[in-house]
Amino acid sequence: MPQITLNTLKKHRAENTKFSMVTAYDACFASLASEAGIDTILVGDSLGMVLQGHQSTLPVTVADIAYHTRCAAAASSSCMIVADVPFMASATTQDAIDTARELMQAGAHVVKIEGGTNLVDLVKLYRDQGVAACCHLGLTPQFVNQFGGYRVQGRTDEAAKRLIEAAAALDDAGTDLILLECVPNHVTEAIMNVTTVPVIGIGAGPSTTGQVLVMHDLLGITPGKTARFVKNFMASADSIQDAFQAYDRAVKNGSFPAPEHCFEE
Ligand code: KIV
Repeated sequence: MPQITLNTLKKHRAENTKFSMVTAYDACFASLASEAGIDTILVGDSLGMVLQGHQSTLPVTVADIAYHTRCAAAASSSCMIVADVPFMASATTQDAIDTARELMQAGAHVVKIEGGTNLVDLVKLYRDQGVAACCHLGLTPQFVNQFGGYRVQGRTDEAAKRLIEAAAALDDAGTDLILLECVPNHVTEAIMNVTTVPVIGIGAGPSTTGQVLVMHDLLGITPGKTARFVKNFMASADSIQDAFQAYDRAVKNGSFPAPEHCFEE
């Protein structure tokens, strides 16, 4: 399979077609995802919760993400790899540069940063240094303490306006990708109208270019109650490979996310 690059994702945005992303943190799952035709792997700081057992992503370090990026990159032959910049790991310019160096040298093609309009300068810094960036907006789990929990974002007119303005500003600043988490469909649609880059959604409705799920949610192995936007693709699959393929197919034919996975208002 040909190597997926940012150009592949930009073509999807230009042609209004879809691509798939799943989190993976090791060689076996990265290889299965790649063989199933999944386009992009996210080495997310969700590993703090699903692998390390923490209550949030805040304890995850750059060394953790670099280690798991190296593991996933070793086996994901065709997938583009996005690695998370952990909590406070881009707080100063030097931190941001050091973190990007470590993650890119571990095998990431793109680094993902959480925030809003505050990311404009960081996006420009990364552009100048040859680092491709994905801006994660909406429910940004690293801000869980400011949000007071994991809540849908952009529900009020004012909050929606802030998100739409942030997306437009980051698109202008030169971000390569945007990832939107837990926002109502109409906010995502407005963001699609003011941006040009590929937009990846999780709980952000059907209008984004790509969709992402945490692998453990997709495989139905996350303990306890899962979020509304989660679908267990293992429930009707014979193997993990089957479940990955079903997810990839559902994203690409537009059947996932269905209305029951979305936030309408
Ligand atoms: O860390 C992660 O897995 C993420 C996804 C939930 C988008 O950021």
